[in-house]
Amino acid sequence: MKEVKVGICGLGTVGVGTFNVLARNAELIAGRAGCRIRVLRAASRRLRPGVELGDVPFSDDVFSIARDPDIDVVVELIGGYDVARELVLTAIENGKHVVTANKALIAVHGNEIFEAAAEKGVIVAFEAAVAGGIPVVKAVREGMSANRIDWIAGIINGTGNYILTEMRAGRDFKDVLREAQALGYAEADPTFDIEGIDAAHKLTILASAAFGVPLQFDRAYTEGISGITPFDIAHAEALGYRIKHLGITRRRDQGIELRVHPTLVPASHLIAQVDGVLNAVLVDGDAVGQTMYHGPGAGAEATASSVIADLVDVARAVMSGTHKSVPYLGFEPDAVDNLPVLPVDEIFSAYYLRIQVQDHPGVLAKVATILSDSGINIESIMQKEFEEQNGTIPIIMLTHTVQERQIDRAIAELEALPDIVGKVVRIRTEHFNH
Ligand code: HSE
Repeated sequence: MKEVKVGICGLGTVGVGTFNVLARNAELIAGRAGCRIRVLRAASRRLRPGVELGDVPFSDDVFSIARDPDIDVVVELIGGYDVARELVLTAIENGKHVVTANKALIAVHGNEIFEAAAEKGVIVAFEAAVAGGIPVVKAVREGMSANRIDWIAGIINGTGNYILTEMRAGRDFKDVLREAQALGYAEADPTFDIEGIDAAHKLTILASAAFGVPLQFDRAYTEGISGITPFDIAHAEALGYRIKHLGITRRRDQGIELRVHPTLVPASHLIAQVDGVLNAVLVDGDAVGQTMYHGPGAGAEATASSVIADLVDVARAVMSGTHKSVPYLGFEPDAVDNLPVLPVDEIFSAYYLRIQVQDHPGVLAKVATILSDSGINIESIMQKEFEEQNGTIPIIMLTHTVQERQIDRAIAELEALPDIVGKVVRIRTEHFNH
């Protein structure tokens, strides 16, 4: 049987998972690919104790794989921006196809990498970069190619979702983060998970595949989950909502929204039930309507599942001798739309507001007047007398959808009132219906 020769660069969680699944399911995968996918070599900065590579030679020099004339496909699983970029560009320069799970690399350097790959006529595949084991890149880029996609919203960071899920059960933020790290879900720098950077990498890629716009990670808006308190989780629940860390991208006439932030979602919506390390991505297309893709967003073999699916695609192309793949981001170069990313104050959203006020007559009327003068419609309001402490009490409100600029102005006016204590807490709210 013919074979396609692969070099695996990076033997961390995903590298080892890929190696193991390729070995375990070799026959099955060969049956699908039409050839054997053979790991010819593996390289990593160091070999973790306990990692067994059988008779596959190991090297601590990943660049030697990118230059090896016997290798057809370089699998980049080292992560990070700089070395990974150099490695992938070297592999392309040497005429190799590339499979990567590196969302940071694609989101930040993808435009450059795809240009280089197009010149060389090689494939760069990155299914594992978005939502781990869920084949959502394929779904958006190929499965939905008939549609005008209007928006995508998703839980696309497993670590963050795991933390928020456990916090609902009353556990401490730091304890849960340590556990997520031990389970191999978190990034090398876990602030990427907590502050929404990892999710923004993935969302940037999805937005480009959905709307045909260039990758614009540097313009994504990110807000993390470290400020979410058990108090807000409980009050959101009382109003019929859960707090999730969502990535949302939406096409508007003037540009696209590209944002990651904590978000109240209706507790009755399917996405509210997505707990733990699981991810879910909602995609709205004009022909198909709303679709949702759900599954493990991180983890060794779940991510390996996507890496190997890409390897099968590459192997088929190599076997057929065409090397012609689906366009990297789903659109031919002359169809790319240069829509910019909108500044965050131009997005439209509903809001949860928590306003700590002096507990005396007329304060609620003043708050309501500011909101109404700002054109903000209140959807619901909650105040509980037993939450009064030292003469102050929280008012919780949900607003209808407005432009963020309007809510920012109203909050500045509210915070200037002598009856308001401290800062107004504001969390965006999403109903998935516009
Ligand atoms: N740190 C990422 C997550 C890994 O928690 O989702 C998968 O990209």
